[in-house]
Amino acid sequence: MIANVSGNGIAVGITGIGAYAPERVLTNADLERMVDTSDEWIVTRTGIRERHIAEPEQAASDLALPAAREALEEAGVAARDLDLLVVATATPDMLFPATAAVLADELGAKRAAAYDLLAGCTGFVYALSQAYGAIATGLSGKALVVGTETLSKITNWQDRSTCILFGDGAGAAVVEPVSEGGILGFELGADGSGGSDLCIPAGGSRTPVTADALDQELQFIKMRGQEVFRFATRVMVTSAEELLAECGAGVDDVDLYVPHQANKRIIDHAVKNLGLASERVFMNIDRYGNTSSASIPLCLAEARDQGLLDDGTRVLMSAVGAGLTWGSAYMTWTNGRASR
Ligand code: ACO
Repeated sequence: MIANVSGNGIAVGITGIGAYAPERVLTNADLERMVDTSDEWIVTRTGIRERHIAEPEQAASDLALPAAREALEEAGVAARDLDLLVVATATPDMLFPATAAVLADELGAKRAAAYDLLAGCTGFVYALSQAYGAIATGLSGKALVVGTETLSKITNWQDRSTCILFGDGAGAAVVEPVSEGGILGFELGADGSGGSDLCIPAGGSRTPVTADALDQELQFIKMRGQEVFRFATRVMVTSAEELLAECGAGVDDVDLYVPHQANKRIIDHAVKNLGLASERVFMNIDRYGNTSSASIPLCLAEARDQGLLDDGTRVLMSAVGAGLTWGSAYMTWTNGRASR
């Protein structure tokens, strides 16, 4: 789907962001001691130098909680005033109850509808569109959108082709009506024919977790890296181009490009093909790896800390992930300008 929502009569924006990454850091040197790999291979092929790893007792909601509190504090919104809480995650605390319900309880968001959304690494962009839609139609007043992942728990630490890529973290955004600017459009899609290129085979109704499934290590991420890479390089470009065209904008109308941090080579390809100036591109993949649905809000929080998100900054976010899914959002940043 694609939509230019700028003429919808209600401006909806992000009024607060927060992020959290677990303390423990796993470097490429650590990985050299675990699997047959090298810092040089990982940096050259992915741009990743280190990633954060959750403690055994830390679940997705535990990472989400500090990120959510920071976002609410920045927005000046009390959890009890939220009426929607969407958690994008591929690594929920458990299949049900939803991690969003767990988080709503911990935050004290007693009035909020709370559900999880599964769109792989595109989850944050999908969730942002859900919050936008709910607010634009009057269904919701104030929403919290969270991307949180403990990918370390579904990674096979003996598989060098995947274990070097992923990291843990969480990011959150408060979404509510703003006086002007805010979200300008979305382009979202899915191609399930590529689903088996990036999946966790066991743990659902197709293949429940059994001793046999565990013997075959089907509870871990399986990825055909080159297929995903080819798909990602294509849709990161087409999604952004189509959305900007729909919004009557061009690359010169992008002040900050915040791509999903999957692989520096995928980002470099998108930047080159879109014709974006490198100083407008935000990257932190070297320090976090691929944190899936947490990656874009982690970037937004760091961009804010670096003073890159001013009133009026035009931000383009694009992601691609399991599904296979993709999505882009284009918006004008509106620092602390909720219309209350
Ligand atoms: N260290 C050293 N060598 C390695 C490693 C490693 N960690 N991993 C693979 N190799 C080897 C391979 O065995 C292969 O060896 P061979 O030539 O002797 O057969 C060689 O390196 C090249 O392997 P490729 O798979 O061709 O390497 P490629 O350049 O494609 O990089 C990578 C692999 C990094 C996985 C890349 O394909 C990629 O980034 N794919 C996209 C992944 C992605 O973006 N996923 C996003 C979604 S995640 C989500 O939604 C949860």
